[in-house]
Amino acid sequence: MSRILKLNIFRYNPKDLNSKPHIETFILNETESMTLFIALNRIRSEQDPSLQFDFCCRAGICGACAMIINGRPDLACRTKTKDLPDNITLLPLPIFKLIADLSVDTGSWFRQMYQKVESWIHTDMVFDSNAQEERMTNHLAEKIYEVDRCIECGCCVAGCGTAIMRENFLGAVSLNRLARFILDPRDKRTTNAYFDLVGTDEGIFGCMGLLACEDVCPKQIPLQDQLGKLRRKLALAAINNVLPKFLRG
Ligand code: SF4
Ligand code: SF4
Ligand code: FES
Repeated sequence: MSRILKLNIFRYNPKDLNSKPHIETFILNETESMTLFIALNRIRSEQDPSLQFDFCCRAGICGACAMIINGRPDLACRTKTKDLPDNITLLPLPIFKLIADLSVDTGSWFRQMYQKVESWIHTDMVFDSNAQEERMTNHLAEKIYEVDRCIECGCCVAGCGTAIMRENFLGAVSLNRLARFILDPRDKRTTNAYFDLVGTDEGIFGCMGLLACEDVCPKQIPLQDQLGKLRRKLALAAINNVLPKFLRG
């Protein structure tokens, strides 16, 4: 027998002066293989066309549908209602700017963050459109690909205690992004250059290492590993920079 689901959904439209933040409850019959994507679309088409939420790919690829599902950041399109209790609470991701209801602006956050960590290959090589692509080993390409699978959903940022307490904290996603360039031999930045970018409390030294980010990452990106490596590399750079000055007196 199908269950009756109770969906408690955050409602607020900051652009509407009459709107006040509140939770609205919708009742829905569960159907077979129902995802939260299907549930929300049914609510919008059958009960309230004003409900706002984001979806694009419906396949865990675009990252648009991340929200807080019963207290945990996750992708709504990959979440089956059968894996949840019949009482479901949906909130928008914190930290990102609220557009309305469950819809947040992750794009602006990611854009400013990628600018801060200079998320591009730094090289003096002049671009030659006739040159062959630079080769790298399969092993190295796979290592880079492993950390480069981020879909920019924002779950790791929303699940991070430091990001909630410290407004400018870069978050696991940006530190992981930098790890991708450190692996890439085409990027000629030195360790000191990386230190200047993220060797701060807003960067790697603000991370408390409790790893909620990895727990909630829907792509299972090995954030723990990358954050640990980056922390060790930049801590060593700091010691190497300070020690000679200390010894000279
Ligand atoms: S390990 Fe660091 S980045 Fe990940 S959730 Fe904890 S404080 Fe945030
Ligand atoms: S690292 Fe994982 S949780 Fe964070 S934005 Fe990328 S895919 Fe989402
Ligand atoms: S709709 Fe694209 S990841 Fe969910």
